[in-house]
Amino acid sequence: MKSRERTAVFPHTVAPAYPEERIRTSLGVAYWAESASLMKEQIEDQSVDLIMTSPPFGLVRKKEYGNADASEYLDWFRPFAGQFVRVLKPQGSLVIDIGGAWNAGKPTKSLYQYELLLTLCKEFDFHLAQEFFWWNPSKLPSPAEWVNIRRIRVKDAVNNIFWLSRTPFPKASNRRVLTPYSKSMEGLLESGYRAKKRPSGHEISKKFSTDNGAAIPPNLIAVANTESNSHYLRYCNENDLPIHPARFPALIPEYFVRFLTDRDDLVFDPFAGSCVTGEVSERLGRRWICSEIDEKYLLGAKGRFVSSPSPKQLRFTGTKIESYNVQRPGALWDDNPQAPLPPDGGRSRPKKQ
Ligand SMILES: C[S@@+](CC[C@H](N)C(=O)[O-])C[C@H]1O[C@@H](n2cnc3c(N)ncnc32)[C@H](O)[C@@H]1O
Repeated sequence: MKSRERTAVFPHTVAPAYPEERIRTSLGVAYWAESASLMKEQIEDQSVDLIMTSPPFGLVRKKEYGNADASEYLDWFRPFAGQFVRVLKPQGSLVIDIGGAWNAGKPTKSLYQYELLLTLCKEFDFHLAQEFFWWNPSKLPSPAEWVNIRRIRVKDAVNNIFWLSRTPFPKASNRRVLTPYSKSMEGLLESGYRAKKRPSGHEISKKFSTDNGAAIPPNLIAVANTESNSHYLRYCNENDLPIHPARFPALIPEYFVRFLTDRDDLVFDPFAGSCVTGEVSERLGRRWICSEIDEKYLLGAKGRFVSSPSPKQLRFTGTKIESYNVQRPGALWDDNPQAPLPPDGGRSRPKKQ
């Protein structure tokens, strides 16, 4: 297909003819490469334990590093999917962090990430082990036209994270990602929990009052994407290098590397950007391969491996917040006068008041 279109889609990204090594440590390597080719040339069958990645999103408004248009997305993704199937170990996992996209000029959402999920499961025989939602509490309200001006949609603040696997039983243990008990659960454990039926009809057995020391987390991961003072940013600034505009916070890959892999396992990020996945894997003693098509992002990524920041600095870069409050709906419902619903669904812009 479409090599001309592809050039248009990724105007800043010309991969070298053969993968070129740009960063090497005792555990890993980052290549300047186009990832489908890199996999073909460098990665053996059934050798990877975890593919942890955040591909370019099918955003309607293109970002600086280039994004495939939502409708072309599946065609673009298929060659990667075929290689993922080949390189993953039978008990390995594929974790994809992917943001939603708005349809151009309309207050409706593209289905592209769900189409991708269906394609991966139906055409490539992946199992959906579980879907996660990454809630970014620092997300600003957008798109402004629908959310702030016409007030007909709410703020989009979650990304999908699809955890896919080759078998229904990939390697995993939730004991690796436990969280502290909530205050209310601590209270229940202290005062004792009476076995009873819940209003939902579920029987709550005595087992729920056993103090296991920590709670099993939900599939909602709350992490603000507000890195502002990390060793990576400092390295880029000090060396006048471009900062990757769409990094995920290290806690996202760290969660899945801990949850799904053991030490010395191999982690691969085919859309590596600034190599957050590589950095996390290095710190956790996993072998890793990163591949990034845009060389300029690997220049700054080097900074993740030249100095050795403390584990604490790495893990909580940019924020000291350990938990977030989500408001239960309804706190303002009684006091607020009922705003009229626009009769045309917001088709016309409200007049300036
Ligand atoms: C959403 S960003 C990933 C950011 C990364 N997770 C981080 O935190 O820095 C997606 C990256 O994929 C890269 N990319 C796009 N197509 C690629 C390809 N065919 N091979 C390798 N990298 C590619 C883009 O240049 C971009 O840096």
